[in-house]
Amino acid sequence: MIDTAGLTMRELREIDLLDPSTFVDYDLTSLWRTMRREAPVYRHPRGFWVLTRYADVVSVYKDPTRFGSDGGNVLSTLTAGGDSAAGSMLAVTDGAGHRRMRAALVDALRPRTMSALAERLRARALELVRRMASGEPFDFAAEVAERLSMGTICDLMGVPEGDRAQLLEWNKEALSSDTRGATESDALLARAEILTYLTEVVQERRESAGTDVVSELIAHRPDDGRPLTDEEIVYNCYSLLIGGDESSRMSAICGVLAFCARPDAWRRVRAGDVSIESTVEEVLRWATPAMHVGRRARRAVDFRGQRIDEGDVVTLWNISANRDETVFQAPDTFDPARQPNRHLAFGYGPHFCVGAQLGRLELGILLEALRASVEEMALAREPKRVYSNFLFGYSALPVVFS
Ligand code: HEM
Repeated sequence: MIDTAGLTMRELREIDLLDPSTFVDYDLTSLWRTMRREAPVYRHPRGFWVLTRYADVVSVYKDPTRFGSDGGNVLSTLTAGGDSAAGSMLAVTDGAGHRRMRAALVDALRPRTMSALAERLRARALELVRRMASGEPFDFAAEVAERLSMGTICDLMGVPEGDRAQLLEWNKEALSSDTRGATESDALLARAEILTYLTEVVQERRESAGTDVVSELIAHRPDDGRPLTDEEIVYNCYSLLIGGDESSRMSAICGVLAFCARPDAWRRVRAGDVSIESTVEEVLRWATPAMHVGRRARRAVDFRGQRIDEGDVVTLWNISANRDETVFQAPDTFDPARQPNRHLAFGYGPHFCVGAQLGRLELGILLEALRASVEEMALAREPKRVYSNFLFGYSALPVVFS
């Protein structure tokens, strides 16, 4: 991995932030630090704006009237000309349409649903972790994280056990491939498979409703009385699947990796010197699974002395904002006791992650299970990074729990 600390500003400017391999080949910690200091609002040679300071990222998040999500909210769709789900999926819809769908999702993910889910999640986490705490090397990503995150979101959506392995494979192909050079068409194909699968699930639930989130979305009656269409339900279930599986899986894996590197920090958590709540927040800040989000400028804007034109793509790098030294003390130190910790791992403003409560719950339950069964954790071999310009994380994490 190339350390960007030794590179000149000119060399840094040429690093291709669109190419998924960049995020595997380079350690970008120094790049972000230099950008925050010297070029915080920077036009990348591939034609999009790169914002790296916490305050700038927050100000764009807060301003959907000037920076819209309906042209897409990640680089891959924004640079391809738009997102086909615009207007039908929460994350890529603004204004009244967004408020209408968001109310439906908030209702479907309400605390009562969460507390019923937590019981099952707790039992699953305890069992998975206990089984692995034998002193033998194993892959935490495959044996624990995948089962926990996919299991949880599938429980919530009422997806049968037998379909989960296939969904996980498609999800990985769509977003977290660990193969260099996997093409965008492979990802598109996997996304199409997931959408077809979810369309069938929605049809089934229309015929026979259950107590799951899909049935809740079908039954939801917004204030305007107009129920969600099948297309809206399918796209939003797809969002739940991505958020519920991918981002949660990556944060769990990054958390265990962080503790492998800092056994002293794990001892403090184990001893109860640090709360699970603050540990969860620091793991999220440290991992920042959604490295960036994107917006499109609705009109020309003067931003910190730069002219952003109408239609320009603006990327907000959460992964840099979460290490901004003007907001976080010793930002490059993993400190589970960190207070305050106003990280941007879940975004900010009107599109703030609707599954944040579930993401936190999953991570907290996993940490409690680890605390109950694992005295020490250590890396057994090098972990394997995913190839993505959006998702930060690993597809394999060989470890030993004792
Ligand atoms: C939105 C991150 C877990 C569903 C977002 C956004 C971020 C994010 C950064 C903002 C996107 C934007 O502004 O364009 C994460 C992380 C998670 C996580 C790091 C786990 C640790 C979840 C879970 C679910 C979920 C568990 C579903 C149950 C969504 C949805 C949106 C969203 C539907 C769109 C919200 C909107 O546009 O109003 N997430 N997420 N996420 N997330 Fe999550």
